[in-house]
Amino acid sequence: MSAIEVLNHPLVDCHLTVLRKQSTPPGEFRQSVRRLSTLLAYSATAGIRTSEYPIETPLQTMKGRQLVDRIGLIPILRAGIGMVEPMLDLIPTAEVWHLGLYRDETTATPVHYYSKLPPGSPVELAFILDPMLATGGSACLALQTLMEWGVRDIKMLSILAAPEGIEKIQSQFPNIDVHCCAVDEGLNDQKYIVPGLGDAGDRIFNTSGQP
Ligand code: PRP
Ligand code: URA
Repeated sequence: MSAIEVLNHPLVDCHLTVLRKQSTPPGEFRQSVRRLSTLLAYSATAGIRTSEYPIETPLQTMKGRQLVDRIGLIPILRAGIGMVEPMLDLIPTAEVWHLGLYRDETTATPVHYYSKLPPGSPVELAFILDPMLATGGSACLALQTLMEWGVRDIKMLSILAAPEGIEKIQSQFPNIDVHCCAVDEGLNDQKYIVPGLGDAGDRIFNTSGQP
């Protein structure tokens, strides 16, 4: 069964509160997405493989460490873009492969409109980035796409998750770990996470139409 890692930390609670508040302006919203993504990345990368190699400090030689695997960041457009930079800050050598999915407004099912995955060999470890795991439809389509590409080790990173989305991943992809900052109560009639934070893409990119 997949592991669900929920960050339990007072700073996470405070930054998540900023995201949830309707009055938070886009700049602050993006800043909090970045901060929470850094904390998620720290937790989700705890088990990544490193190897030793010799280095010289100004004083002597010693053994340093470097990443072993080819790592891919797969942001689900649009909202996942907000999580890329903080991940790249921690893993500068990561490759970024974009997946374009949006939810049909009436059915809340994902529509695939873009994917930029290389035809050649896949990365060894992939992190799917999307702040919102609601019904889980988008995440499962992304997981299926990466598995068909041949990625064997995939982790899902979301800021907010609904129990429905977690259950969908667990039933369809029992070996995939999900890392999130909080699991909310559930989904409303429009399949939005409640209490949630609204439409993450609109809030990151300031496209909600609000003055
Ligand atoms: C949001 C979010 C996820 C998806 C989650 O994207 O960023 O991709 O909804 O919902 P699900 O778990 O029910 O699939 P949205 O469809 O709003 O697209 P956008 O980022 O382009 O606004
Ligand atoms: N997508 C969002 O941006 N927010 C939700 O609550 C659900 C899906």
